[in-house]
Amino acid sequence: MTTNSQHTTDEPTTDAALTVLVTGATGRTGSRVARAARAAGHTVRAASRSGEVRFDWHEPATWDAALRGADAAYLAYLPDVGAPGAADAVDALARRAAELGVLHLVLLSARGEDQAHATERSLAESGVARWTVVRASWFAQNFSEGPLVDGLRAGELVFPAGEVLEPFVDVRDIADVVVAVLAAGPRYAGRIVEVSGARLLSFRDAVAEISAAVGRPLVYVPVGAREYGAALTDFGVPEEEVEFLIELFETNLDGRNAHVSDGVREVLGRAPREFTAFVGEAADAGAWKA
Ligand SMILES: NC(=O)c1ccc[n+]([C@@H]2O[C@H](COP(=O)([O-])OP(=O)(O)OC[C@H]3O[C@@H](n4cnc5c(N)ncnc54)[C@H](OP(=O)(O)O)[C@@H]3O)[C@@H](O)[C@H]2O)c1
Repeated sequence: MTTNSQHTTDEPTTDAALTVLVTGATGRTGSRVARAARAAGHTVRAASRSGEVRFDWHEPATWDAALRGADAAYLAYLPDVGAPGAADAVDALARRAAELGVLHLVLLSARGEDQAHATERSLAESGVARWTVVRASWFAQNFSEGPLVDGLRAGELVFPAGEVLEPFVDVRDIADVVVAVLAAGPRYAGRIVEVSGARLLSFRDAVAEISAAVGRPLVYVPVGAREYGAALTDFGVPEEEVEFLIELFETNLDGRNAHVSDGVREVLGRAPREFTAFVGEAADAGAWKA
């Protein structure tokens, strides 16, 4: 964990009910943050382009209604926290949130992603009373929700991750950390909290666990980042996004993240959820049905 501020760690937590804007609320992390925040007694504004509260990162006109009257906000920038335009959008949004009196902003960021540092700085320099960055490892749920699922259902995960080791984090742990950070008031203000799962696995290991859980052969096929990018282009992903993703895969999956982080234990006082347990639950829920 990286510590950026000089606060003390013995400040009391608060059980006050907050109004929390959750961006990306129909997505992997946002849906869990919304659920965890509601379970903790907070009022949630579930926001996205198609959500209960309309919010679009590319349409600043949608921001004020989402922010006004909120005590706190969870920020998940799409398509990626390090994508071109992310730092400027988070800068503008966070400054507006500060002007409107939102007290605490929590930004989801990514471990070992150099491209995300400018976005993190935008948050830190926005003037908001409290900011916290939750820097996560690769999600376990990348395998069960989102772009990797279709390949796995068809029996094959083609991905440019070589044999690199990664401590996949369960997005429910990210959600629990975000809600605990908000409840802790000033305690994690001005801090970057790094979270990961408990155990290093290669993508090949992960696919083998999924294969064992679903009881049919699934294979992992490592490819080069450029080869993978060409396939994304064929699928119609815009060129700028493809170039960003190639650079991201070439750097983020070069072994720099082959270590665990202790943020889940520090904030929640418990171990991260186990990857094997995630696989079992997702298999039972039919995530990889052919
Ligand atoms: N995947 C990983 O392993 C990983 C690891 C660390 C950090 N991250 C970061 O996680 C973030 C993504 O979070 P996630 O995986 O929870 O999201 P996700 O599952 O990809 O879901 C995307 C969410 O954002 C909304 N959305 C899409 N475009 C939007 C826009 N222009 N304006 C407002 N909302 C928009 C979507 O809903 P609508 O379609 O209704 O708008 C949906 O709710 C990124 O910043 C990424 O860098 C990812």
